[in-house]
Amino acid sequence: MRPIYIAGNWKMNKSIAENNAFFEGLVSFNTSFNSKRIVQIVCPPYIYLEKTKEITKGTNICIGAQNCSEQDNGAFTGEISVEMLKGLNIEYCIVGHSERRQFFFETDSLIQQKYLKLKAQGITAIICIGETLAEREANRTFSVIETQLEGIFDGLYTLDNNTFLIAYEPVWAIGTGKTASPEQAQEVHQFIRNWFEKKYNKEIANGIAILYGGSVKPSNIKELLSCPDIDGGLIGGASLDLKSYTEMVSIAEGE
Ligand code: PGA
Repeated sequence: MRPIYIAGNWKMNKSIAENNAFFEGLVSFNTSFNSKRIVQIVCPPYIYLEKTKEITKGTNICIGAQNCSEQDNGAFTGEISVEMLKGLNIEYCIVGHSERRQFFFETDSLIQQKYLKLKAQGITAIICIGETLAEREANRTFSVIETQLEGIFDGLYTLDNNTFLIAYEPVWAIGTGKTASPEQAQEVHQFIRNWFEKKYNKEIANGIAILYGGSVKPSNIKELLSCPDIDGGLIGGASLDLKSYTEMVSIAEGE
């Protein structure tokens, strides 16, 4: 059975004091929450990572970054390398989020470069894909997803499914309050899994965790997680509040 991932993507939110208070609360929640199946991941802003690792030390809480550089080091003002993340024992890193594609012009081939750097350092990539509203309305959802997957995995003839998670995030559902229905999400998740089966093999496809993202919250996470190909959520807004995050973790545990 694949694990269930409850992954929070905080984006550019919270003060350091709010960050620390959230993680102190999450550590205390975890003193009475023991689950072998749920993986809790939270991705705060870069500059809070070190303090966050300190607060969560010795717990099952996994910490992720929201981005990384595809370069090893050098004159890249403002960038953070994968090696720097490794130095803080960061376990996960989001790559190719639609906001990075939209505002920072990230491409599928850049996302592949970032994924390969993360893989080399043993950090699990959370690779985001998803269609825009215009693409969905033009009935292009599957072709867009296929093109993104082909670009990101281009030339990678062998694959270790423990080195990445896929997050399917329809752009029209991110931060809009509009969630894909469980049927809409399941249909795309199944398409993604089938793509991996066709390109690689069944074993790889069955081992890949595919998270859904886009206005996931306590009131809709249960029905999303009940879909056979949905292995968790990548959650923005609703992961910022400790009560709502831990509620989603508890709901997932009941699945
Ligand atoms: P949202 O964001 O849950 O606020 O829609 C999800 C994401 O961008 O990962």
